[in-house]
Amino acid sequence: MKQIIFDTDIGIDDAMALLFLHFANEVEILSIISGYGNASIERTTVNALYMNKLFNINAPIFSGASNPLGENTPEFPDFVHGINGLGDIDIPEDVGQPESLGGAQAIVDAIRQNPGKITIVSVGRLTNVALALNLCPELPALVKEIIIMGGAFGFNGHYGNVSPVAEANIAGDPKAADLVFTSGMPITVVGLDVTLEVTMEETYFDALRAEAGLAGEFIYRISQCYLDFHERVHGHRSCPVHDPSAVAYLLQPQIFGTIDASVRVVTEGDAAGQTICGNPTGHSEIDTPTLSKTSKICTSVDADALLHLYHRTLASSVN
Ligand code: RIB
Ligand code: CA
Repeated sequence: MKQIIFDTDIGIDDAMALLFLHFANEVEILSIISGYGNASIERTTVNALYMNKLFNINAPIFSGASNPLGENTPEFPDFVHGINGLGDIDIPEDVGQPESLGGAQAIVDAIRQNPGKITIVSVGRLTNVALALNLCPELPALVKEIIIMGGAFGFNGHYGNVSPVAEANIAGDPKAADLVFTSGMPITVVGLDVTLEVTMEETYFDALRAEAGLAGEFIYRISQCYLDFHERVHGHRSCPVHDPSAVAYLLQPQIFGTIDASVRVVTEGDAAGQTICGNPTGHSEIDTPTLSKTSKICTSVDADALLHLYHRTLASSVN
């Protein structure tokens, strides 16, 4: 069993990723940590509680960070994910409460209790993970791996989606991201380089609705708002596959091509949120110690294999 902590700012593609994890036989979701991002922390926590109940996921939900490190004014992309983060479908208010422990402490406690066993799948801002690192500096040696949906390195011509050089999850808290990338954790980055190479067409959602029961109907309903946004921007009713791609890497890493390189994040100025990768130059005078801490960066993906895996996994929920 792959034991995972899901760190998420539950919006539309996060919800799709959560159902991918839930219906994958080989995954045990130990906990869900909510974070601000696609919507406020209050909203994303309600979304996690709602989905947990609706789909009998039975994972404890911990509420995480409400703002980026050192800042208190996040903005929410309601024009992408809707005001409630889930495409403005009706969500009841009586969904229960999260656990009393904070999200960062919950990450630390679980990983300390299961050293070397737990993978974090992080598909939102990296604030919760950075706060966990502050609480427990030895975390990099205790976590099995962290799979991050975030960043863009220019592979396949992809550089950014919220600025010409930055991806949303990294731009949302660049300081947290740089702290995580220089921590020495075993990291795999699933960035725009690959997520923009995988597209779900409107007909793909129709097929999920027809063949994946309650999960398919749910994904169909929440995704209408997402498709509206992408149609306004690109003139075509289809969308890229961001957060589910991180789950696909967890389940079938062989469908991705990767390179090993050190990653740093630009933390200030017009290029804030830009992710840069490189390897030591061999000139000891200019190489910094952080260059010895490498991440695995996804540079290519078998898009058809990923789309089949997602459909097959969701459709298995009705068998
Ligand atoms: O850039 C894509 C990422 O930003 C995804 O995680 C999506 O959910 C949004 O948060
Ligand atoms: Ca997300």
